[in-house]
Amino acid sequence: MTSTPSTALAAVIHPPYSPATIKVESFPIPDLKPTTLLIKTHSATLTAGELGWFDGMTDPIRPGYEISGTVVKVGTEITRFKEGDKIIALTNYRGGSLAEYAVVDDFAAAHVPKYLQKDLSLASTIPMNYLTALQALQSHAQLPTTPKNPKPTILIHGVSGGVGIYAALLSHHYGLKIIGTASSPSPILKRLGVHVVPHTYTTSDILPHTSNSQGVDIILDTVGTPSIISAGYSVINKSPSNKSHFLTIVVRGGRNGYLEYKEAVAKQAEENGVHAELIVVQSDGKQLEEGLPNLEEWMDVVREGKYDRNFEFGEEGVREAYETLERRDRKRGKIVVDFQ
Ligand SMILES: NC(=O)c1ccc[n+]([C@@H]2O[C@H](COP(=O)([O-])OP(=O)(O)OC[C@H]3O[C@@H](n4cnc5c(N)ncnc54)[C@H](OP(=O)(O)O)[C@@H]3O)[C@@H](O)[C@H]2O)c1
Repeated sequence: MTSTPSTALAAVIHPPYSPATIKVESFPIPDLKPTTLLIKTHSATLTAGELGWFDGMTDPIRPGYEISGTVVKVGTEITRFKEGDKIIALTNYRGGSLAEYAVVDDFAAAHVPKYLQKDLSLASTIPMNYLTALQALQSHAQLPTTPKNPKPTILIHGVSGGVGIYAALLSHHYGLKIIGTASSPSPILKRLGVHVVPHTYTTSDILPHTSNSQGVDIILDTVGTPSIISAGYSVINKSPSNKSHFLTIVVRGGRNGYLEYKEAVAKQAEENGVHAELIVVQSDGKQLEEGLPNLEEWMDVVREGKYDRNFEFGEEGVREAYETLERRDRKRGKIVVDFQ
């Protein structure tokens, strides 16, 4: 058995949760529960808007919700993983992946396929964005595995972003007509068959591109501004015979903001006669592992979902990573902090 140290360095964000209040501190590595894994971290990634999740809280936070690394210890009930396995995971609310060693629930972890093992940095950018898009389309929009005719139309707000690009890939796979908002088109969006419209689109930019000009059947909103939400209701298919879905994933203002926003989404949905939901991704290592082989031929999508610079673990590197994440003019995509 590999010997592990008794303490490890980890990032901690103190209230009021800004890059300036980030510290790197030493923590005891906890004992494992029967269904948890201890991971030696290779890379951890940051998510756009994540500092806003802590609004209203008062405790220091151990951030980091995605990880790639090597299993160094397994809980007594674990059979799916062994020491030395390379894994990626979305840690859900557990957090704490911005640490030299991190504890991960076995249900959250997925084996890294061979084709990604040489780039664990890139692999760490996949779990949250891929699972968010997958669960939005499969579980929430309930897309059938064989495409209907006429093809349903999806409108993805922020199609050029980390989540948006996976949503475009999956929509392409499902055979949907895809419209997406972005500042500019890109070769990969073209390859995925996305009709790109500006963020400030009008109904005439959208309706002619939907099946029978009936309007959009699914909206996936990854941007979350009030104007985007109301504009969405002007292009959604409201035909009583059609079950349209308006899905938004953007959570601001901590737990209170989440609850208020959830209520507002539900109210607007009722007023507009469509099904709307504020959705939050769930960790699911098996679902992630099943989907990973499908990404091998789409590595340009995976790369597009990542910011083009990596940061090195340490107080300065983590602060700089969060400062970059918070900058309004930053390019989109997951920001990676590397430990190795
Ligand atoms: N609920 C959940 O479970 C869940 C899971 C993952 C992520 N999220 C949230 O989803 C959001 C998106 O995450 P991401 O990783 O995809 O972010 P990202 O990579 O930074 O992408 C942001 C997207 O928003 C667009 N955008 C930026 N400013 C805009 C504006 N003023 N108006 C319209 N569009 C604008 C960008 O388009 P251009 O660059 O082309 O302008 C880009 O496509 C974040 O708020 C994140 O916290 C939620």
